Amino acid sequence: MKNRCLVVTGGGDCSGLNAVIRAIVRRASLVNDWEIIGSRDAFNGILRDPMEIVELDKSAVAGIHVRGGTILGTTNKGGPFSWQVQAKNGNWKSEDHSAEMLRKLEFLNVKAVINIGGDGSQKISQKLFEMGCNIVGVPKTIDNDLGATDITFGFPTAVEIATEAVDKLVTTAASHNRILILEVMGREAGWIALHSAIAGGAEICIIPEIKYDIDKIIERIKERIHHSRGFVNIVISEGACPIDGSKHYQVNNEPGHHDPRLGGAGNRLMHELKDHGVKTDIRVTLLGHLQRGGKPIAYDRIIATQFGVKAFEMVLNKEFGKMAALRNGKLVSVPITEAIETYNFVDLNSDLVHTARDIGICFGD
Ligand code: F6P
Repeated sequence: MKNRCLVVTGGGDCSGLNAVIRAIVRRASLVNDWEIIGSRDAFNGILRDPMEIVELDKSAVAGIHVRGGTILGTTNKGGPFSWQVQAKNGNWKSEDHSAEMLRKLEFLNVKAVINIGGDGSQKISQKLFEMGCNIVGVPKTIDNDLGATDITFGFPTAVEIATEAVDKLVTTAASHNRILILEVMGREAGWIALHSAIAGGAEICIIPEIKYDIDKIIERIKERIHHSRGFVNIVISEGACPIDGSKHYQVNNEPGHHDPRLGGAGNRLMHELKDHGVKTDIRVTLLGHLQRGGKPIAYDRIIATQFGVKAFEMVLNKEFGKMAALRNGKLVSVPITEAIETYNFVDLNSDLVHTARDIGICFGD
């Protein structure tokens, strides 16, 4: 019987996941003693009864690298350490089903696991590794917030989509002489906002790393409206905070959802501006999950393919408890502990932030 390598995609989806899966399968097909299987909806496919397993051979993954989403499905709820169980009274509770899951993997002859996911998923990888599971991580986050790798797939496509949105909003803002606010993803790190504001030519960019002062934003709006052009484009991260440091959350009743749901930072900013007497028309666009869907751009397909090949080679080399990463253009493996401990915030002293300031972008500080 061949060794089996289980592939799972966990956390929020993004463009490029399918390209990773395809690359793993194609690389594994070059050796004779391994076969690849996938679990539906992260580890849930293993945890469910009956199990939901997908055979992944070359024909199953043919052409999927150009498709958005993940053919395996994903979830950012529950998982082996917090499996959601509904009691008779309707309340949900978390149970640890990790030991049972590892027994199931042994029964399936799974000798290695590749977990493609962000920090939440890699925390699960680390705990499973500590329990003796032969696991390898592949980083995934559109927020570009994992410190152990220079870049992850999904982020470039999200920037492309956000930039296209800024481009479109600039023309309508100019036609109507309005203030248009675009809210983009980025829980703790403002990478998508920063990149799309520079690429699209927004006047104001609000990111979680810089607490914004509403008076500074109003100053910039006045300067622009009274002295140059009659419209303003603002890009704001969902995780943006005013001086008091508060983020704007949505009510979330989904059992087992890993993170509090963000959303509404753009609307909050609009109300703050109005409350401070700004009279120009303001409209808000929440780009939301459009940033996570659709075809990956070519660059994402390439990085994703590199990560997939590297991950399977890490399996062959028994580099378990490690995650594939790109550092200075080189594919390397780093301890998963490093990946979950180091966060990639926008460096306020970086060339990119200086460039943005030097072309006149206001960060609200
Ligand atoms: O962490 C990635 C991310 O896209 C965040 O930017 C966003 O806040 C979150 O996922 C949204 O998650 P959900 O799919 O549960 O709405």
